[in-house]
Amino acid sequence: MREKLDLIFRRVSIRKFTNEDVDDETLNLILEAANAAPSAGNLQARDFVVVRDKERKIRLAKAALKQMFIAEAPVVVVVCANYPRSMRVYGERGKLYAEQDATAAVENMLLAVTAFELGAVWVGAFDESEVSEILNLPEFVRPMAIVPVGHPAEKPGRRSRYPVSMLTHYETW
Ligand SMILES: Cc1cc2nc3c(=O)[nH]c(=O)nc-3n(C[C@H](O)[C@H](O)[C@H](O)COP(=O)(O)O)c2cc1C
Repeated sequence: MREKLDLIFRRVSIRKFTNEDVDDETLNLILEAANAAPSAGNLQARDFVVVRDKERKIRLAKAALKQMFIAEAPVVVVVCANYPRSMRVYGERGKLYAEQDATAAVENMLLAVTAFELGAVWVGAFDESEVSEILNLPEFVRPMAIVPVGHPAEKPGRRSRYPVSMLTHYETW
């Protein structure tokens, strides 16, 4: 049973990368997988900014509280919520949906990366206005996650989890 979920349980955050590149064909498949995630009304209110330029990656790393490993990955994808794409249909609620659309895509990305034996980590700690400036993001777009992707140069074990029974409530809270 459990082995059917191998991809999910095999995924771990990778923060050390080799110098080996990730080719565009692989990256495009990873992005296709990301956009295969569900989205409210199938509006896909998410955008991906792909960064390969070394200087720009360094600036992103600095904007992410100096998490410099970001600049060591050959490619960095910044996943953004695109508010108007969802809000034009869903109004205020579309704000939340756009954020959910974007973050569902992030998890799909991480699983696709794992399937290719590559490594990545979801980076959420960053100065949003700095990241927006570095990437020239329009004001209606919110950067939700910085995802450095590369070939792993570390093999961390799985981080422990709470027993799911502790987090699960049946019928009511
Ligand atoms: C919303 C969010 C923000 C995160 N931000 C960071 C971050 O800024 N830097 C980092 O190294 N890891 C970050 N992580 C990764 C977590 O530290 C990691 O997923 C967690 O420790 C569990 O480890 P695992 O991914 O190996 O299972 C973030 C994860 C999430 C979901």
